[in-house]
Amino acid sequence: MLSGAFLMPAFSVVTFGCQMNAHDSSRMEEVLLGAGYDKAEGPESADVVVLNTCSVREKAEQKLRSEVGRLGLLKRKRPELLIGVAGCVAQQEGERLLKSLPQIDLIIGPDNIKELPSLLHDLESGGLPRVRTVFDVDEPSFLMAEPSRASSATSAYVTVMKGCNERCSYCIVPYTRGPERYRPAREILEEIRRFVDAGVREITLLGQTVNSYRDPEGRLPVAPHYGESRLKWPRGSVPREDETEFPALLYAIAEAAPELWRLRYTSPHPRHLTPSLIHAHEQIGMLAKHVHMPVQSGSNAMLKRMIRRYTREEYLERTRALTEAVPGLTLSTDMIVGFPGETDEDFEESISLVQEAGFVALFGFKYSQRPYTPALKLKDDVSEEEKSRRLTRLFEVVDAQKAAHLAGLVGREVAVLVDGTGKTGEASGRTEQNEIVHIEAPVGELPVSGSLVSVKIERAYKNSLRGSWLRTLAASPLPRDKIQSAIVTPRGESEKRSDAGRRSLPVV
Ligand code: SAH
Ligand code: SF4
Ligand code: F3S
Repeated sequence: MLSGAFLMPAFSVVTFGCQMNAHDSSRMEEVLLGAGYDKAEGPESADVVVLNTCSVREKAEQKLRSEVGRLGLLKRKRPELLIGVAGCVAQQEGERLLKSLPQIDLIIGPDNIKELPSLLHDLESGGLPRVRTVFDVDEPSFLMAEPSRASSATSAYVTVMKGCNERCSYCIVPYTRGPERYRPAREILEEIRRFVDAGVREITLLGQTVNSYRDPEGRLPVAPHYGESRLKWPRGSVPREDETEFPALLYAIAEAAPELWRLRYTSPHPRHLTPSLIHAHEQIGMLAKHVHMPVQSGSNAMLKRMIRRYTREEYLERTRALTEAVPGLTLSTDMIVGFPGETDEDFEESISLVQEAGFVALFGFKYSQRPYTPALKLKDDVSEEEKSRRLTRLFEVVDAQKAAHLAGLVGREVAVLVDGTGKTGEASGRTEQNEIVHIEAPVGELPVSGSLVSVKIERAYKNSLRGSWLRTLAASPLPRDKIQSAIVTPRGESEKRSDAGRRSLPVV
């Protein structure tokens, strides 16, 4: 039935949404390659197409419908084509999707990736469309990444937790990803070691509220300053229950993988920006000097309605303590405009918070009503035009801050982790603060992927920097074939594909 009697079926995974989805797509690819499938060039030449979907905003969900429509046309020409829907829309809609989009053959939730080959096998043998969207709450499992198949050879993402217990009033994620479940520190360290042994030098820890992490096996030694408020918040000390084991995990990683040059994490929740985490930033040299800390709004009234569980003052206090502890650390954030009841004054509070916190990058979103969320009870009373106006203004403010920040780097010497070649053939990479740098070097000295080089910044653009190579600080640890593949597929591929609402991105 499948194309070519002796060929293995070929798959294509199309990713929408956030880094967790991109990460899940990589696991799906590994599971399918492991089951003998081949990777197709794209959906047009695939026997199986899996759409890994996002439902965080209505627009993201619409993308699924238009993509299924497009694939439906292909399916008319090739009725044997199998269409699978994975990710957050799959989990949220389940069976209902099969009714509204009958072209779909398989619906699979984020916790059921392992079952993908067996479900496809059933379908290939003539089985009926299937829905499998069960959270692994009783026995959470985390698929171990396969470093040899990683698309970027220099940087890797490692999941430390999944799900979210926060229940911010606007957000669908707790419904699509389930309750928080944490990965054993033992497994996290093992996966990081595997990546480091394969030449990876930058790790980003992933989780919906990554800094609420706790080791389910309870094996992590206590982090320094755990439960103590050495840094006193003016509004009172952080209660002991607010501490997590995330800083302890960071120390354990630094000890288990000293070869790492950079350690990042995304996305943290401001509630868990604790004194011991700030202390970890002071102590652990490999922790990058950039943190993406979603704030959502600068108005206390909105933060309360959003159920964010911190105030504007607390957010500023905590991030200020962090930037004071680590000079040069930059911050980026997520913000929502036009949340129900957001007045001009509330919005101005968001603008002033952006200025006070000094964000150098921001993802801004227009509020979008989501099914099952508590905010549905509130009237979506800010007009679409007003939301657009506020978003434009927000971007203007942050773009000016970003431009000033980038311009301030001209003339400075920075360390860049090279991760590919730019459009014009020169090398490019990222600084510790996550700025993109295009590097010029004399012929024959062009730094290769995976190397850490010192660069003198000569020009600042809107979203990136240009500089000249000064010297190599550390040679690339990558094996030769990985250096080649890193050049062909520079990091950032998944970012380009991610949700169109996102702009000029830091790490997420
Ligand atoms: N777990 C992460 C982010 C999850 S979703 C965190 O809490 O930081 C990414 C971003 O999408 C959120 O930070 C928020 O800014 C935005 N978002 C989530 N739900 C939204 C909605 N209903 N409308 C508009 N933006 C939303
Ligand atoms: Fe959504 Fe809030 Fe959880 Fe982030 S912390 S995933 S915004 S519920
Ligand atoms: Fe991510 Fe979108 Fe799901 S942001 S967690 S893919 S709803």
